[in-house]
Amino acid sequence: MHNDIQEVLFTQEQIEAKVAEIGKQLSEEYEGRNPLIICILKGAFIFMADLVKQITVPVEMDFMAVSSYGASTRSSGEVKIIKDLDSSVEGRDVLIVEDIIDSGLTLSYLVDVLQRRNVKSVKIATLFDKPARRTVDLKADISGFILPDAFVVGYGLDYAEKYRNLPYIGVLKPEVYSS
Ligand code: PRP
Ligand code: MN
Ligand code: MG
Repeated sequence: MHNDIQEVLFTQEQIEAKVAEIGKQLSEEYEGRNPLIICILKGAFIFMADLVKQITVPVEMDFMAVSSYGASTRSSGEVKIIKDLDSSVEGRDVLIVEDIIDSGLTLSYLVDVLQRRNVKSVKIATLFDKPARRTVDLKADISGFILPDAFVVGYGLDYAEKYRNLPYIGVLKPEVYSS
């Protein structure tokens, strides 16, 4: 275990099993529909890569990078698109793949953007979810693991751009972010 990690919440094996389960569920749900799967960078890149290998129906993929403005405007739900989609989503069945939902602001903004671009349908699959932290009414269609309100990193999730490559998800030692 990495020296900055206090506790592993979900191991690599547990995550693998969950991702396989989600992939199976999505394969059934999108049978015959050719969905466009959108990965929300950066955090979702590992989940996306592992998940699409577990989906057995034809899919297309695109990538979007977003960031919230400063802490004060974050509460307004204002999110900046750093990299937009390459493809048109009009009339498409869109699946958003996200690593974690916290306040819900990022996704509530994105769902709104996609709906204004006239998608046929939009669903959300998140690997991790902190429903207790929501400030907006936003529910994922698929939530892999419910997390406690702790500072977690790994499997795509960062603290100051570090720890994304840990193969498990763990709680960061408080001294790492308080020093
Ligand atoms: C994190 C995470 C989600 C979002 C969740 O991304 O990956 O995208 O925050 O928070 P919310 O529900 O409160 O909006 P972050 O902005 O840290 O960017 P990153 O994915 O590049 O790390
Ligand atoms: Mn993110
Ligand atoms: Mg981040």
